[in-house]
Amino acid sequence: MRFVQGTFDDDDAFERLRSTIEELDKAQGTGGNFAFYLSVPPKSFPVVIQQLKKHGLADQKGGSWRRAVIEKPFGHDLKSAEELNKVVHEVFAPDQVFRIDHYLGKETVQNILALRFANTMFEPIWNRSLVDHVQITMAEDIGIGGRAGYYDGIGAARDVIQNHLLQLLALTAMEEPASFDADALAAEKTKVLGAVKLPKDMGADTVRAQYAAGWQGGTKVRGYLEEDGINASSKTDTYAAIKLEIDNRRWAGVPFYLRTGKRLGRRVTEIAVVFQRAPHSPFDTTATEELGSNAIVIRVQPDEGVTVRFGSKVPGTSMEIRDVSMDFAYGESFTESSPEAYERLILDVLLGDSNLFPRTEEVELSWKILDPIEEYWDKNGKPAQYRAGTWGPVEADEMLERHGRSWRRP
Ligand code: BG6
Repeated sequence: MRFVQGTFDDDDAFERLRSTIEELDKAQGTGGNFAFYLSVPPKSFPVVIQQLKKHGLADQKGGSWRRAVIEKPFGHDLKSAEELNKVVHEVFAPDQVFRIDHYLGKETVQNILALRFANTMFEPIWNRSLVDHVQITMAEDIGIGGRAGYYDGIGAARDVIQNHLLQLLALTAMEEPASFDADALAAEKTKVLGAVKLPKDMGADTVRAQYAAGWQGGTKVRGYLEEDGINASSKTDTYAAIKLEIDNRRWAGVPFYLRTGKRLGRRVTEIAVVFQRAPHSPFDTTATEELGSNAIVIRVQPDEGVTVRFGSKVPGTSMEIRDVSMDFAYGESFTESSPEAYERLILDVLLGDSNLFPRTEEVELSWKILDPIEEYWDKNGKPAQYRAGTWGPVEADEMLERHGRSWRRP
């Protein structure tokens, strides 16, 4: 491990970096293969990329490779993402660039495609003829911690919906790829992201909010506006819920509800595919009072697994039916341990395997989805409020109630 110190605009520093790398390359025999991991503030991506080029660090020579890893946020809207992509691709070819979305490195996220396409029993029901709606939730109990500088002005939707949640939506809704290679996967994800339809009525079908003071795990916590480094008049969202649809034959008319928030009831990420009610029931209505909708829930974290929810007769002399769960839990079914998301992704960078990395088109399409929503929020009022430790603002509950549905309480 070597440390080369300098500022990003300092040519001498990049010369020192180059000679240090060359020295290590000779000593360790790394074959001229380098991966540059840009864990730097987003505004510094362009200057660092240009410095790598200027100092000959980006050129691939004689069969060796040079790769660049870029952390999110990849821009803060479509325009800035396009500009950034232009700068990056002036220096690196598309197959040299690895954009990190650490959700794709999670075992449970990779399992979405296994569940759907390695089995026969899920795919035939995975469409508008039986699915009522899909809920994708990424709830966090933490606040913004010491990240005010990054978070304020960015907000929940740009921080995690543009990337993690839209990637989950793409994997849940995409068609089966012709093969499991990076091009085939990207083609299907791009197709489905391109078919996403925004709500006609943004006021009714999107909600953003900020956490107010409250209690979490027995501790009193501050509201967002009282956090260190946050402007008391900030309009940044710490919670966002949006309804999207997908304009294709498989999903026409099926709402995909996405929600995320900080300081919610507990940390949980899940994808719930909720099915239509049985078209007819031979049982009287009092017998089925406790029966919800059938659902397949992909538990991304922390209690990794898959749950199937369905109704079952309560033992006894009457015909009472209640919801039960059938569970698959990683901990019980596998003895193998899961690599951390970043372990897996960094290994893939070194191997040159880009399956788990979003492409330029996916990033740009995701901004195309989010930009009009952010613009609407920007022009229309202030975020709603929710008490820390709860499941979000009443406005989000009302949004689903208007459609005769309700959020799951994971
Ligand atoms: C990051 C966001 O991408 O994901 C953070 O910037 C968020 O705000 C984090 O807390 C959550 O990651 P995980 O893996 O804990 O769900």
